[in-house]
Amino acid sequence: MSAAPPGPALVFGAGAVGCWIGGCLQAAGVPVTFVGRVRVLDALRAHGLTLTDLDGGRHHLAADSLQLSEAIPDGCRPALVLLCVKSGATAEAAAMLARSLRAGTLVVSMQNGVNNAAIAQAHAQALAVRAGMVPFNVVELAPGGYHRATSGTLAAQDDPALRAWQPWFAAAGAPLQLHADLTPLLWGKLLLNLNNAVNALSGQPLRAQLLQRDYRVCMAALIDEALAAFRAAGITPARLTPLPPAALPFVLRLPTPLFRRVAARLLRIDATSRTSMADDLSRGRPTEIDALCGEVVRLAKANGLPAPVNERIAELVRAWPRDPRPRDAATLRAELGLA
Ligand SMILES: NC(=O)c1ccc[n+]([C@@H]2O[C@H](COP(=O)([O-])OP(=O)(O)OC[C@H]3O[C@@H](n4cnc5c(N)ncnc54)[C@H](OP(=O)(O)O)[C@@H]3O)[C@@H](O)[C@H]2O)c1
Repeated sequence: MSAAPPGPALVFGAGAVGCWIGGCLQAAGVPVTFVGRVRVLDALRAHGLTLTDLDGGRHHLAADSLQLSEAIPDGCRPALVLLCVKSGATAEAAAMLARSLRAGTLVVSMQNGVNNAAIAQAHAQALAVRAGMVPFNVVELAPGGYHRATSGTLAAQDDPALRAWQPWFAAAGAPLQLHADLTPLLWGKLLLNLNNAVNALSGQPLRAQLLQRDYRVCMAALIDEALAAFRAAGITPARLTPLPPAALPFVLRLPTPLFRRVAARLLRIDATSRTSMADDLSRGRPTEIDALCGEVVRLAKANGLPAPVNERIAELVRAWPRDPRPRDAATLRAELGLA
């Protein structure tokens, strides 16, 4: 590994993903500036940044070692920007980056959904925006405490400038794989993210939710519709779990004792883990439902297919502020019209 990183990094949208990945990079020796909201930054000022993971890893970065800002600092010249806001904030974030950063600055979208890099690029045409993919789940366990609760390898669209960063991601304990075409991985991730709506409406931790068959039947129905839309559109999603995407609905519908055995690696999830959509609902923030289930509905419609289950669950998530009612598994299954 070279003695010095390619340059400083900027996390735009310091939340679960931004604090975890940015914190790991800083722990490996990369100077990182975190741009985020007062709520998050004040917690970091008070407690520092503690990073943990389900493999037992732990790092603590003292508060006075953190560069924290509510806006992009004047004269900031990062060699790498990690775009870590939720999908609904992408356009505005990209426009802010475009106003402050030098033309050609490398920006990697670490967001879920398949279109964020394109949206960011459209709003920041002078910057070099690349798609990224975060396969694991990160939760905020305490103020300033972020925990990687599942496993997986970070991925991004290949770019010569990103190759120089790979040793630093590896040293940070968050290796980054580069792909000539990230699209199949983004669709593969979207398939798994369809469960975010189920998890958010369940009000339960991810592992507990996945161990209830009626919730899995809901997830399977969402995936069925997505797979049909993918086939019609000629999209082949990448395999991100030990199971191939086409086998997911069948395995999810298995009785729970069998599911536990077949999907043991899929269930390697901390009991603490929940999806960020669940946090969004509980904090009254906008969700990414439009970039997830909404994307399936659009793709299905564009290919002349219905996607009623994705459509219905998106309605339930959008209705949450008026109807904030966690659903038990049988209720959610019934509300989605799944016999
Ligand atoms: N958490 C996970 O486990 C996980 C895993 C894989 C991928 N992802 C994806 O990663 C992305 C980020 O997720 P997350 O869970 O890290 O979200 P998060 O915890 O909500 O973090 C994003 C942060 O960015 C802030 N922000 C938005 N616009 C900003 C601006 N203009 N200036 C400063 N701060 C701004 C948000 O504040 P406000 O809330 O006030 O807008 C929020 O605090 C999403 O696309 C998500 O789907 C998440």
